[in-house]
Amino acid sequence: MASPRKIRVAVLISGRGSNMVALIEAAKDPAYPAEIVLVLSNRPDAAGLGRAAEAGIPARAVDHRAFPDRASFDAALDAELRAADVDLVCLAGFMRIFTPAFVAGWAGRMLNIHPSLLPLFKGTHTHAQALEAGVRLHGCTVHFVVPELDAGPIVAQAAIPVREGDDPDSLADRVIVQERRLYPAVLAMVAGGRARLEGDRVVIADTAPEGVLFSV
Ligand code: GRF
Repeated sequence: MASPRKIRVAVLISGRGSNMVALIEAAKDPAYPAEIVLVLSNRPDAAGLGRAAEAGIPARAVDHRAFPDRASFDAALDAELRAADVDLVCLAGFMRIFTPAFVAGWAGRMLNIHPSLLPLFKGTHTHAQALEAGVRLHGCTVHFVVPELDAGPIVAQAAIPVREGDDPDSLADRVIVQERRLYPAVLAMVAGGRARLEGDRVVIADTAPEGVLFSV
């Protein structure tokens, strides 16, 4: 029997791309339900572009500074994604805000990873925000993208304890480890049909056991 067609994924980055590398590594498994077919960056100097190319993935910059406005930049990205026959977009440290029209075109087919337990601590400096608020649990979230920044249906989260003496850098160092575990696991859930968007909620096919990092 022919194996089912893999979900074609583009990863959008702006920086070092360590989440992107985690997705590329996971997708090397023949049983993984997705393949990374394209990496795009809005910054030509993003270190992740070189790491993607080393892994044999087509990797290109679409420099946002070359476009007069957000709409024309988004249209160029959209054209790249459609030319590559992409099914699903994963934002991984992509630091540009999209127009509502671009988001609408990928509704239900675009994921983002955010370094906090949403809906807490949207935007930037999330680790400093967590310390300022005095929370004892911090972490990361993978969610479907909606026009509102760092909102949208949550697929899964991973948590870490906040320890005495933590500073934003020590939290970032421990959260990123969880990000690199969570994102490939979530992409497998979504691409494999185990996590489905129903309206504004994500429905998970299997029940998570108590006490694991992934929750729904
Ligand atoms: C991650 O913490 C991600 O959650 C945030 O930006 C960082 C990107 O890191 N949005 P990397 O480029 O994947 O290494």
